[in-house]
Amino acid sequence: MKPIKVGLLGIGTVGSGTFEVLKRNQEEIKRRAGRGIEIVMVADLNTARAKELVGNACEVVNDANQVVNHPDIDIVVELIGGYGIAKELVLKAIANGKHVVTANKALLAIHGTEIFKAAQDKGVMVAFEAAVAGGIPIIKALREGLTANRIQWIAGIINGTTNFILSEMRDKGLDFDTVLKEAQRLGYAEADPTFDIEGIDAAHKATIMSAIAFGIPVQFDKAHVEGITKLQATDIRYAEQLGYRIKLLGITRRTEQGIELRVHPTLIPAKRLIANVEGAMNAVLVQGDAVGATLYYGKGAGAEPTASAVIADLVDITRLATADPEHRVPHLAFQPDAMADTPV
Ligand code: HSE
Repeated sequence: MKPIKVGLLGIGTVGSGTFEVLKRNQEEIKRRAGRGIEIVMVADLNTARAKELVGNACEVVNDANQVVNHPDIDIVVELIGGYGIAKELVLKAIANGKHVVTANKALLAIHGTEIFKAAQDKGVMVAFEAAVAGGIPIIKALREGLTANRIQWIAGIINGTTNFILSEMRDKGLDFDTVLKEAQRLGYAEADPTFDIEGIDAAHKATIMSAIAFGIPVQFDKAHVEGITKLQATDIRYAEQLGYRIKLLGITRRTEQGIELRVHPTLIPAKRLIANVEGAMNAVLVQGDAVGATLYYGKGAGAEPTASAVIADLVDITRLATADPEHRVPHLAFQPDAMADTPV
Protein backbone atom coordinates (compact mmCIF):
# COMPACT_ATOMS: atom_id res chain seq x y z
CA MET A 1 0.00 0.00 0.00
CA LYS A 2 1.20 3.54 -0.79
CA PRO A 3 2.41 5.67 2.15
CA ILE A 4 -0.04 8.13 3.68
CA LYS A 5 0.99 11.69 2.81
CA VAL A 6 1.58 14.33 5.47
CA GLY A 7 2.08 18.10 5.30
CA LEU A 8 3.73 19.98 8.17
CA LEU A 9 2.77 23.52 9.11
CA GLY A 10 5.80 24.87 10.95
CA ILE A 11 9.13 23.18 11.44
CA GLY A 12 10.41 24.59 14.71
CA THR A 13 11.39 22.46 17.69
CA VAL A 14 8.50 19.95 17.52
CA GLY A 15 8.40 19.86 13.71
CA SER A 16 12.08 19.03 13.42
CA GLY A 17 11.72 16.40 16.17
CA THR A 18 8.82 14.84 14.25
CA PHE A 19 10.86 14.76 11.07
CA GLU A 20 13.81 13.17 12.84
CA VAL A 21 11.89 10.48 14.75
CA LEU A 22 9.80 9.53 11.70
CA LYS A 23 13.02 9.04 9.75
CA ARG A 24 14.91 7.21 12.49
CA ASN A 25 12.11 4.79 13.41
CA GLN A 26 10.49 4.51 10.00
CA GLU A 27 10.51 0.70 9.85
CA GLU A 28 8.81 0.22 13.24
CA ILE A 29 6.36 3.03 12.55
CA LYS A 30 5.45 1.58 9.16
CA ARG A 31 4.86 -1.85 10.66
CA ARG A 32 2.63 -0.42 13.39
CA ALA A 33 0.68 1.89 11.10
CA GLY A 34 0.20 -0.76 8.43
CA ARG A 35 1.72 1.53 5.78
CA GLY A 36 4.43 4.16 5.48
CA ILE A 37 3.98 7.73 6.75
CA GLU A 38 5.68 10.25 4.50
CA ILE A 39 6.10 13.99 5.02
CA VAL A 40 5.78 15.37 1.51
CA MET A 41 5.62 19.12 2.17
CA VAL A 42 6.70 21.52 4.91
CA ALA A 43 5.51 25.10 5.18
CA ASP A 44 7.59 27.53 7.20
CA LEU A 45 8.22 31.26 7.00
CA ASN A 46 11.92 30.57 7.38
CA THR A 47 12.33 28.46 4.24
CA ALA A 48 16.14 28.56 4.34
CA ARG A 49 16.24 26.99 7.82
CA ALA A 50 13.50 24.51 6.88
CA LYS A 51 15.47 23.42 3.80
CA GLU A 52 18.53 22.93 5.93
CA LEU A 53 16.54 20.67 8.26
CA VAL A 54 14.80 18.50 5.67
CA GLY A 55 17.39 18.44 2.88
CA ASN A 56 15.95 16.81 -0.23
CA ALA A 57 13.47 14.70 1.69
CA CYS A 58 10.44 16.84 0.82
CA GLU A 59 9.26 20.11 -0.67
CA VAL A 60 9.59 23.28 1.43
CA VAL A 61 7.20 26.19 0.87
CA ASN A 62 6.63 29.56 2.45
CA ASP A 63 2.84 29.64 2.10
CA ALA A 64 0.94 27.29 4.44
CA ASN A 65 -2.05 27.38 2.09
CA GLN A 66 -0.06 25.25 -0.32
CA VAL A 67 -0.10 22.48 2.27
CA VAL A 68 -3.77 22.70 3.27
CA ASN A 69 -4.88 22.95 -0.37
CA HIS A 70 -2.56 20.24 -1.68
CA PRO A 71 -4.73 17.55 -3.33
CA ASP A 72 -2.42 14.65 -2.40
CA ILE A 73 -1.93 15.45 1.29
CA ASP A 74 -4.02 13.27 3.63
CA ILE A 75 -2.96 14.61 7.03
CA VAL A 76 -2.00 18.17 8.00
CA VAL A 77 0.15 18.56 11.13
CA GLU A 78 -0.32 22.01 12.65
CA LEU A 79 2.68 23.12 14.74
CA ILE A 80 2.36 26.88 14.37
CA GLY A 81 0.70 27.57 17.73
CA GLY A 82 -1.63 30.37 18.82
CA TYR A 83 -5.20 30.82 17.69
CA GLY A 84 -5.00 33.25 14.77
CA ILE A 85 -3.62 31.86 11.55
CA ALA A 86 -3.47 28.35 13.06
CA LYS A 87 -7.26 28.28 13.46
CA GLU A 88 -7.82 29.48 9.91
CA LEU A 89 -5.48 26.84 8.49
CA VAL A 90 -6.89 23.98 10.57
CA LEU A 91 -10.44 24.83 9.49
CA LYS A 92 -9.33 25.09 5.84
CA ALA A 93 -7.59 21.71 6.06
CA ILE A 94 -10.73 20.15 7.52
CA ALA A 95 -12.92 21.77 4.85
CA ASN A 96 -10.56 20.27 2.27
CA GLY A 97 -11.18 16.81 3.75
CA LYS A 98 -7.81 16.42 5.47
CA HIS A 99 -7.23 14.86 8.87
CA VAL A 100 -5.46 17.13 11.33
CA VAL A 101 -2.87 16.50 14.03
CA THR A 102 -2.12 19.43 16.30
CA ALA A 103 -0.05 20.19 19.38
CA ASN A 104 -1.92 23.44 19.85
CA LYS A 105 -3.52 23.42 23.30
CA ALA A 106 -4.50 27.12 23.21
CA LEU A 107 -6.36 26.64 19.93
CA LEU A 108 -8.26 23.58 21.16
CA ALA A 109 -9.06 24.96 24.62
CA ILE A 110 -10.65 28.03 23.06
CA HIS A 111 -11.97 26.92 19.67
CA GLY A 112 -12.05 23.14 20.13
CA THR A 113 -15.82 22.73 19.97
CA GLU A 114 -16.01 24.57 16.64
CA ILE A 115 -13.05 22.62 15.24
CA PHE A 116 -14.33 19.20 16.36
CA LYS A 117 -17.80 19.95 15.00
CA ALA A 118 -16.31 20.94 11.62
CA ALA A 119 -14.26 17.71 11.59
CA GLN A 120 -17.26 15.59 12.51
CA ASP A 121 -19.39 17.18 9.78
CA LYS A 122 -16.66 16.53 7.25
CA GLY A 123 -15.91 13.00 8.52
CA VAL A 124 -12.24 13.69 9.22
CA MET A 125 -10.22 13.22 12.39
CA VAL A 126 -8.54 15.79 14.62
CA ALA A 127 -5.95 14.31 16.97
CA PHE A 128 -4.05 16.18 19.67
CA GLU A 129 -2.08 13.89 21.95
CA ALA A 130 0.82 16.38 21.86
CA ALA A 131 -1.34 19.23 23.16
CA VAL A 132 -1.40 17.94 26.75
CA ALA A 133 1.66 16.88 28.75
CA GLY A 134 3.94 16.48 25.71
CA GLY A 135 5.24 12.92 25.51
CA ILE A 136 2.92 11.46 28.18
CA PRO A 137 0.12 9.64 26.33
CA ILE A 138 -2.53 11.05 28.65
CA ILE A 139 -5.17 11.63 25.97
CA LYS A 140 -4.92 8.02 24.89
CA ALA A 141 -4.96 6.88 28.52
CA LEU A 142 -8.19 8.79 29.15
CA ARG A 143 -9.84 7.67 25.92
CA GLU A 144 -8.59 4.15 25.58
CA GLY A 145 -6.89 2.66 28.65
CA LEU A 146 -9.42 4.13 31.09
CA THR A 147 -12.43 4.03 28.82
CA ALA A 148 -14.33 1.65 31.12
CA ASN A 149 -14.15 4.12 33.99
CA ARG A 150 -16.29 6.89 35.30
CA ILE A 151 -13.49 9.39 35.87
CA GLN A 152 -13.78 11.06 39.27
CA TRP A 153 -10.94 13.54 39.15
CA ILE A 154 -7.70 14.48 37.41
CA ALA A 155 -4.88 16.47 39.01
CA GLY A 156 -1.71 17.19 37.12
CA ILE A 157 1.55 19.06 36.92
CA ILE A 158 1.03 19.99 33.29
CA ASN A 159 3.30 22.97 32.86
CA GLY A 160 7.02 22.21 32.88
CA THR A 161 8.15 25.83 33.09
CA THR A 162 6.38 26.54 36.39
CA ASN A 163 7.42 23.20 37.86
CA PHE A 164 11.01 23.98 36.91
CA ILE A 165 10.75 27.43 38.50
CA LEU A 166 9.27 26.08 41.74
CA SER A 167 11.86 23.27 41.93
CA GLU A 168 14.81 25.59 41.33
CA MET A 169 13.54 28.20 43.80
CA ARG A 170 13.27 25.48 46.46
CA ASP A 171 16.47 23.56 45.74
CA LYS A 172 18.82 26.40 44.89
CA GLY A 173 17.16 29.29 46.66
CA LEU A 174 17.16 31.22 43.35
CA ASP A 175 14.71 34.03 42.74
CA PHE A 176 11.76 33.82 40.38
CA ASP A 177 13.12 36.06 37.58
CA THR A 178 16.48 34.29 37.39
CA VAL A 179 14.84 30.86 37.06
CA LEU A 180 12.29 32.08 34.52
CA LYS A 181 15.13 33.34 32.31
CA GLU A 182 16.78 29.93 32.59
CA ALA A 183 13.49 28.18 31.63
CA GLN A 184 13.29 30.42 28.56
CA ARG A 185 16.90 29.65 27.66
CA LEU A 186 16.20 25.92 27.95
CA GLY A 187 13.19 26.26 25.64
CA TYR A 188 10.50 25.15 28.13
CA ALA A 189 8.59 28.42 28.22
CA GLU A 190 5.95 29.55 25.73
CA ALA A 191 6.74 32.39 23.31
CA ASP A 192 4.87 34.57 25.80
CA PRO A 193 5.93 33.20 29.21
CA THR A 194 2.92 34.92 30.81
CA PHE A 195 0.94 31.89 29.61
CA ASP A 196 3.17 29.66 31.72
CA ILE A 197 3.61 31.68 34.89
CA GLU A 198 0.00 32.88 35.10
CA GLY A 199 -1.33 29.32 34.79
CA ILE A 200 -2.96 29.89 31.39
CA ASP A 201 -1.03 27.14 29.59
CA ALA A 202 -1.90 24.65 32.36
CA ALA A 203 -5.54 25.77 32.19
CA HIS A 204 -5.60 25.15 28.42
CA LYS A 205 -4.40 21.60 29.03
CA ALA A 206 -6.73 21.00 32.00
CA THR A 207 -9.66 22.24 29.88
CA ILE A 208 -8.89 19.67 27.19
CA MET A 209 -8.52 16.81 29.69
CA SER A 210 -11.74 17.84 31.42
CA ALA A 211 -13.66 17.78 28.14
CA ILE A 212 -12.43 14.28 27.37
CA ALA A 213 -12.83 12.86 30.85
CA PHE A 214 -16.29 14.24 31.48
CA GLY A 215 -17.73 14.63 27.97
CA ILE A 216 -18.26 18.36 28.35
CA PRO A 217 -17.57 21.18 25.88
CA VAL A 218 -14.09 22.71 25.89
CA GLN A 219 -14.69 25.86 27.91
CA PHE A 220 -11.48 27.55 28.91
CA ASP A 221 -13.42 30.65 29.99
CA LYS A 222 -15.02 28.67 32.84
CA ALA A 223 -11.67 27.72 34.38
CA HIS A 224 -10.45 29.32 37.60
CA VAL A 225 -6.84 30.28 36.83
CA GLU A 226 -4.13 31.39 39.22
CA GLY A 227 -0.42 31.21 38.41
CA ILE A 228 2.73 31.28 40.51
CA THR A 229 3.72 34.94 40.21
CA LYS A 230 2.52 35.80 43.73
CA LEU A 231 4.58 33.04 45.33
CA GLN A 232 7.73 34.03 47.15
CA ALA A 233 10.76 32.06 48.25
CA THR A 234 9.49 32.29 51.85
CA ASP A 235 6.20 30.55 50.91
CA ILE A 236 8.18 27.68 49.46
CA ARG A 237 10.45 27.51 52.54
CA TYR A 238 7.55 27.56 55.02
CA ALA A 239 5.76 24.84 53.06
CA GLU A 240 8.93 22.76 53.21
CA GLN A 241 9.25 23.21 56.98
CA LEU A 242 5.65 22.03 57.43
CA GLY A 243 6.28 18.92 55.30
CA TYR A 244 4.68 20.16 52.07
CA ARG A 245 5.72 21.05 48.53
CA ILE A 246 4.02 23.73 46.45
CA LYS A 247 3.03 22.60 42.96
CA LEU A 248 0.99 24.32 40.28
CA LEU A 249 -1.79 21.81 39.66
CA GLY A 250 -4.43 21.63 36.96
CA ILE A 251 -7.45 20.02 38.60
CA THR A 252 -10.77 18.91 37.20
CA ARG A 253 -13.31 16.84 39.09
CA ARG A 254 -16.88 15.75 39.30
CA THR A 255 -18.85 17.36 42.14
CA GLU A 256 -22.55 17.30 42.99
CA GLN A 257 -22.82 20.81 41.56
CA GLY A 258 -21.09 20.00 38.27
CA ILE A 259 -17.57 19.76 36.91
CA GLU A 260 -14.81 21.77 38.58
CA LEU A 261 -11.95 23.12 36.48
CA ARG A 262 -9.14 25.00 38.16
CA VAL A 263 -5.43 25.78 38.13
CA HIS A 264 -3.63 27.13 41.17
CA PRO A 265 -0.59 26.58 43.42
CA THR A 266 -1.38 23.67 45.76
CA LEU A 267 0.21 22.40 48.97
CA ILE A 268 0.97 18.68 48.63
CA PRO A 269 2.37 16.48 51.43
CA ALA A 270 6.06 15.96 50.58
CA LYS A 271 5.73 12.16 50.81
CA ARG A 272 3.32 11.94 47.85
CA LEU A 273 4.78 10.79 44.54
CA ILE A 274 3.45 13.81 42.69
CA ALA A 275 5.11 16.16 45.19
CA ASN A 276 8.45 14.72 44.08
CA VAL A 277 8.05 15.50 40.39
CA GLU A 278 10.92 17.90 39.84
CA GLY A 279 12.25 20.20 37.16
CA ALA A 280 10.40 20.50 33.87
CA MET A 281 8.78 17.06 34.19
CA ASN A 282 5.01 16.58 34.03
CA ALA A 283 2.81 14.13 35.93
CA VAL A 284 -0.92 13.49 35.80
CA LEU A 285 -2.97 11.62 38.41
CA VAL A 286 -6.28 10.20 37.24
CA GLN A 287 -8.83 8.64 39.56
CA GLY A 288 -11.32 6.29 37.90
CA ASP A 289 -14.12 4.43 39.68
CA ALA A 290 -12.94 1.02 38.50
CA VAL A 291 -9.18 1.39 38.26
CA GLY A 292 -8.61 3.63 41.30
CA ALA A 293 -5.71 6.10 41.14
CA THR A 294 -3.26 5.98 38.23
CA LEU A 295 -0.21 8.18 37.71
CA TYR A 296 1.45 9.16 34.42
CA TYR A 297 4.89 10.75 34.43
CA GLY A 298 7.24 12.01 31.73
CA LYS A 299 8.54 14.91 29.69
CA GLY A 300 5.89 17.50 29.01
CA ALA A 301 7.83 19.44 26.38
CA GLY A 302 10.79 19.24 24.03
CA ALA A 303 11.41 18.17 20.45
CA GLU A 304 11.36 14.38 20.59
CA PRO A 305 8.98 13.82 23.54
CA THR A 306 6.38 15.98 21.78
CA ALA A 307 7.19 14.37 18.42
CA SER A 308 6.51 11.00 20.06
CA ALA A 309 2.93 12.15 20.69
CA VAL A 310 2.52 13.74 17.23
CA ILE A 311 3.64 10.51 15.55
CA ALA A 312 1.38 8.38 17.75
CA ASP A 313 -1.51 10.42 16.35
CA LEU A 314 -0.21 10.02 12.80
CA VAL A 315 -0.11 6.25 13.30
CA ASP A 316 -3.61 6.22 14.79
CA ILE A 317 -5.05 8.23 11.93
CA THR A 318 -3.23 6.11 9.37
CA ARG A 319 -4.71 2.93 10.85
CA LEU A 320 -8.20 4.35 11.13
CA ALA A 321 -8.23 6.19 7.81
CA THR A 322 -7.26 2.97 6.14
CA ALA A 323 -10.15 1.10 7.79
CA ASP A 324 -13.85 1.26 7.01
CA PRO A 325 -14.81 4.96 7.55
CA GLU A 326 -18.08 4.06 9.26
CA HIS A 327 -16.20 2.47 12.11
CA ARG A 328 -13.53 5.02 12.69
CA VAL A 329 -14.30 8.41 14.23
CA PRO A 330 -15.40 8.01 17.89
CA HIS A 331 -12.23 7.98 19.91
CA LEU A 332 -10.44 10.73 18.01
CA ALA A 333 -13.16 13.36 17.95
CA PHE A 334 -15.47 14.81 20.53
CA GLN A 335 -19.13 14.20 19.99
CA PRO A 336 -20.60 17.68 20.41
CA ASP A 337 -24.17 16.33 20.50
CA ALA A 338 -23.36 14.26 23.56
CA MET A 339 -22.05 17.22 25.55
CA ALA A 340 -24.42 17.98 28.36
CA ASP A 341 -22.69 19.44 31.40
CA THR A 342 -20.63 22.57 31.56
CA PRO A 343 -17.98 23.40 34.13
CA VAL A 344 -19.24 25.23 37.19
N1 HSE B 1 5.43 25.89 27.98
C1 HSE B 1 4.98 24.55 28.11
C2 HSE B 1 5.46 23.99 29.45
C3 HSE B 1 5.47 23.72 26.95
O1 HSE B 1 6.28 24.65 30.09
O2 HSE B 1 5.00 22.94 29.85
C4 HSE B 1 4.75 22.43 26.72
O3 HSE B 1 3.38 22.59 26.51
